[in-house]
Amino acid sequence: MTRKEIFISASILSANFARLGEEARTVLKAGANGIHFDVMDHHFVPNLSFGAVVCEGLHKDGVKAPIDVHLMVDNPDLYVEPFAKAGANVITFHPETSRDVMETIHHIERCNMKAGLAFNPEKPLDMDVSVLKKLQMILVMSVHPGFGGQRFMRESLEKIKRARELVNKHNTLCYVAIDGGINKENCAEVQKAGADFLVMGSAIFHSSDYGETLHTIRAQL
Ligand code: DX5
Ligand code: ZN
Repeated sequence: MTRKEIFISASILSANFARLGEEARTVLKAGANGIHFDVMDHHFVPNLSFGAVVCEGLHKDGVKAPIDVHLMVDNPDLYVEPFAKAGANVITFHPETSRDVMETIHHIERCNMKAGLAFNPEKPLDMDVSVLKKLQMILVMSVHPGFGGQRFMRESLEKIKRARELVNKHNTLCYVAIDGGINKENCAEVQKAGADFLVMGSAIFHSSDYGETLHTIRAQL
């Protein structure tokens, strides 16, 4: 079963970095459930974003909602402790970047956070059931990671369905999350395919009224 209440995590990659704290507080007040924090190292993806010090800044600035960190980096283990100290709640990494996926999950858990696995468009949902049972989320990428504001890849709908089947069978507490190009036109369709966690960046932050945008989106779900 999909959860009734869909979790919307606002990707601050598309926010105004010059006033990030204010942007985060505004979007949460406007109805987002959490903050999605895209970490890019210019190796795993062709872009560079921000690291744990920025997360710590948000946390100290009063952002108390869940922060899910999406690591698009070559060596996720290096980032686990710094993000735990910075107040992150969930660390999602791409399995091909870890030498031992279960060990990285244990590392995240030892730091009192939950783990998620992210899958690029060309990657199948390959994972052991023992791994799936540990996860807080499967993050299906519906764009090639690296930049906000890209177009939703419709092929990802099939992968969401597959992720939903796996989750319903083995770990009903795990979210099926979708990341990339989600907006008011396609949110209902991805929910119907089985997603219960929507990452949204430009659809919210490039709109003139975050509250109105989130209200329109919720009305479709
Ligand atoms: C892409 C990132 C996404 C991105 C989503 O590499 O992982 O989280 O910020 O942004 P939109 O919603 O604009 O596609
Ligand atoms: Zn992301």
